[in-house]
Amino acid sequence: MRRMRRLRVPGIREMVSETDLGIQNLVQPIFVDERITEPRMIESMPGQYHQSIESVAAEAGALEDLGVPAVLLFGLPSTKDEMGSAAADPDGVIQKAVRAIKECTSLLVITDLCLCEYTSHGHCGLVRGERVLNDETLPLLGEVAVSQAQAGADIVAPSGMMDHMVRAIRTSLDWEGFADTPILSYSAKYASTFYGPFREAAQSGFAFGDRRGYQMDPANFAEALWEVQLDIEEGADMVMVKPAMPYLDVLRAVKEMFGMPTAAYQVSGEYSMIQAAAERGWLDERAAFLESLMCIKRAGADMIITYWAKEYARQCEG
Ligand code: PBG
Repeated sequence: MRRMRRLRVPGIREMVSETDLGIQNLVQPIFVDERITEPRMIESMPGQYHQSIESVAAEAGALEDLGVPAVLLFGLPSTKDEMGSAAADPDGVIQKAVRAIKECTSLLVITDLCLCEYTSHGHCGLVRGERVLNDETLPLLGEVAVSQAQAGADIVAPSGMMDHMVRAIRTSLDWEGFADTPILSYSAKYASTFYGPFREAAQSGFAFGDRRGYQMDPANFAEALWEVQLDIEEGADMVMVKPAMPYLDVLRAVKEMFGMPTAAYQVSGEYSMIQAAAERGWLDERAAFLESLMCIKRAGADMIITYWAKEYARQCEG
C-alpha cells in the first residue's frame, strides 16, 4: 500500500527534495541615481533603495560579502532627451556605476540595456509622433551595449523588446572587440501591470500610449517560444521570461524546448505585493519569498532576478 507521507518526515523530506535553490542562482537588481548622494528608499518598493554613484560600490561590497553572485544595474540619469543619448555616454550613470563596482568587488555585473530610463518620452526606442521606431533604434542599442562593455559590464541585458535587437547588439559588440561579452536577452517580456512599482523606481513612466506595441500580450504562449527562438538565432547566450510568477508555464516550456540557460525576472509588482501583505501581517515575508523563489526555480529557471537576493543571502546563507 503506497503511503506518500512516509517520506515527508524531517531528514527524509530534505533528501528527496527535487529542487535546489541557492544564492548562486540569484541576481540582485540595483537602481543607481546620478542625482543623489545618499541611498534613498524607494517608496513603491519597501526595502529597496536608490543608490548614488558614491554609495553603489559599498552596497555591491556588502552584497559580495553576503555571497550574492551578481547584480543587475539600472541607471537614472540626470538628463533625458528624445534620443536617450545619456544611455551611451561613456560617463553616464550606468558606466560610472559599473566602473565603481568593478574597482572594488569581483561581483558579476549585468547591465540592463534599454532607452526608457533615458528618453524624455519614456519609451524603449526612438519615437516619431506616437510610433516607437524599431530599426532606427537598433544602432543606438548597439552603442549603448559597447559603452557598457567598455565600462566593464560582464553581461549586457537588452530589455526593450525591439525586433532584431540581439543581432544588432551582437554585431556591435563583436565589431568593437567584445566578442566574449554574453547577451542575456529579455526574450519573452510581457506588457505587464506588475511593472508598476518599477516605473516609480526607475522613473521610466511613459508620456503617451503604453508598451503593448513592443511587449508581449499576456494572452500569448506560442508567441513567447517564437520570441525565444528568434533571440537564440540572433545570438542570445541566455534567455529570460518576465514577469516570473504569472508566467511559470512559459518559463517551463522555454526551458524544456530550448535547454538554454534561462533566467526569470521576479518583477517589482511581485515583490511589492508580498511586501505590502507582509506589512499588514497577512503573509509571512520570509516564507512567501522563499516559496516564490523555490517555485520559480522548480518551473525551470537557472537564474532568478529578484529584489530578495540580498535578503535571501542574509537569512538563508552562511
Ligand atoms: C525597462 C524595464 C522594465 C523593467 C525592467 N526593465 C520596465 C518596463 O518595461 O516597463 C521592469 C522590472 C520590474 O518591474 O521589476 N525596459
